[in-house]
Amino acid sequence: MRTPTVLAASLALVMAPLTLAALPATAAPPAADDHPLGDLAPTPPMGWNSWNTFGCDINEQLIRDTADALVASGMRDAGYEYVNIDDCWMAPERDADGRLQPDPVDFPHGIAAIADYVHARGLKLGIYSSAGTATCQGLPASLGHEEIDAQSFADWGVDYLKYDNCNNQGVPAIERYQAMGDALAATGRDIVYSICEWGTNDPWLWGRDVGGHLWRTTGDITDRWDSVMSLLDQQVGLEAYSGPNGWNDPDMLEVGNDGLTRTESRAHMSLWALLNAPLIAGNDVRDMEPWVLDQLTDPDVVAIDQDWGGEQGSKLRDDGDAEVWSKPMSDGSVAVVLLNRGGNTQTVASTARDLGLRSSKFYSVRDVWADTTRTSGGTIRASVGSHAAEMYIVSAARAPSHPPLVSLDAAAPYYTAVGEQTTVTTTVYNDGATAISELQLGLDVPAGWTATQDGSPRPSLPPGESTSVDWTLSTTNPEAGRVDVEASASWLSDEVRDGATQQTSFLQVEPIPTGQHYLSDLEWMEASSFWGPVERDMSNGEQAGGDGGPITIAGTTYEKGLGVHAPSTVTYFAAGDCATVAAQVGIDDETNSQGDVIFELWGDGQQLASSGVVSGGDPAVPLSADLAGVDVLRLRVLDNGGPNYDHADWADAQITCS
Ligand code: GLA
Repeated sequence: MRTPTVLAASLALVMAPLTLAALPATAAPPAADDHPLGDLAPTPPMGWNSWNTFGCDINEQLIRDTADALVASGMRDAGYEYVNIDDCWMAPERDADGRLQPDPVDFPHGIAAIADYVHARGLKLGIYSSAGTATCQGLPASLGHEEIDAQSFADWGVDYLKYDNCNNQGVPAIERYQAMGDALAATGRDIVYSICEWGTNDPWLWGRDVGGHLWRTTGDITDRWDSVMSLLDQQVGLEAYSGPNGWNDPDMLEVGNDGLTRTESRAHMSLWALLNAPLIAGNDVRDMEPWVLDQLTDPDVVAIDQDWGGEQGSKLRDDGDAEVWSKPMSDGSVAVVLLNRGGNTQTVASTARDLGLRSSKFYSVRDVWADTTRTSGGTIRASVGSHAAEMYIVSAARAPSHPPLVSLDAAAPYYTAVGEQTTVTTTVYNDGATAISELQLGLDVPAGWTATQDGSPRPSLPPGESTSVDWTLSTTNPEAGRVDVEASASWLSDEVRDGATQQTSFLQVEPIPTGQHYLSDLEWMEASSFWGPVERDMSNGEQAGGDGGPITIAGTTYEKGLGVHAPSTVTYFAAGDCATVAAQVGIDDETNSQGDVIFELWGDGQQLASSGVVSGGDPAVPLSADLAGVDVLRLRVLDNGGPNYDHADWADAQITCS
């Protein structure tokens, strides 16, 4: 149902002043011809790699079909030129002459034949080995065989080597990566050298010297929002080490893979481009939806990534869930990402001054995903959805040649009790350099809800001003669950109608009934688990390929409890009426003593109790907290360094409410 309103009177919002952050100092990258293996990656490499989607399930047909798909889809022409075979291409034994050989079943025609196939399509071939005695999947690798292996790669026509770090026998990293760099150089073939050392020994300090054209700065990516955000955080401070022929690599793309929403994928792509990351697609390009191809090949976004003359982008501002990232471009413009890591829509803003742009009355703001351009008087602001990013290229302009930059914010509370009225506030900001008029606002609410506008906002907005209106939402059929609403605004600028919409949502929650309850018998507000759903009265069980078995910690089995995989959060609405929560926490025996996590209880944003590190095989730890006055109870499990085997049990978890 739409409730349109013509706005009158004024309510200008006072804006918090933006902090002035200095742009990071950038070391000038060494001249390209200094590079030991040559000028092979003047801009960040682009291509595809088998690992993220296919793991060890690869064969020569997949590689050929992928090469064909890169051509047919237009990805090759957009810049994706490397077709990279990851782990598992090799046979379990070297041949009689000590050479690596391809798996005879999966790659019967050999690597040289694939290289020919790929080259005939204007593409290049990448391959994989490890600077260890075996690859991460236990197949033969190159430590101590650098020369013979590099020569095989060169003989086969390989153009790119990803060189991993598994089974390295404790030999110092620089020594191992130098040995392969020297061996590649000795072949005389142009081979891009991708150092996959996971950032363990600061490869940004020595990667270029040993011949690397790019180096992983982190552990592996997974197709999870948490993973993308955690890798992003690990790039802060490394900006100065990235440049032509020596790129920081925050790992391959998960764009289009199942674990990320379309919005999350777009944020991931925006941020990787801003970081000058190598763009190595990790999806099945033989079968992708049009939006996936659009995200991977957006010309503006690819151009930002490939703008080597600028600098790697960096975090300019951090307001918790709201972040501003920026990257100076070689043409004097600035690429900016407004990121919202939080669970609900919020407005994120920066200024031309903070972005380091020269002083001007007007700025042109190109929205690279929407392909629209607007004029700003100096503020770059957008309402950004949950787990989303907006990306712009901002430059100083001579005249206000485009419609004014206007944004629409829709602010809803995180939750309200079922049946209670809720207020949603919509705000229109005119950040343009000219006025807008005939402003109209609307709010779409689901069936059974009504929205009443409280107060009268202004019909016209001069540049630099904003106007807000509150909407009271009520319902005739109260029900627990998420309520999605969509705000809309439309206005006239220079006789032309322009408009915006923005979604937001809130939760309607039931308080926990009085008495003592197992948490697994109650409805939660929200629940998340890294792998698999949050299980009731069962362990996570993902290892066994699905739902878990009985909750079991150090030999003791529990009938009741929650089974999760860290990182995980389960939230309950205690409504200030509960006294205590208590559980026996531990890692489920199904991991065979692997994994380590930290269990925490939080009330209204404050930590109430922590288990400290609990490892696989440890006996259950009793964890409890006093809940007097707590509205929102959060059960969190942290992965303590990485989400491996972190099957966490909240055994016997009970809450007592009055
Ligand atoms: C390591 C690497 C990954 C992938 C796998 C293959 O984990 O970091 O990118 O190559 O090995 O086994």
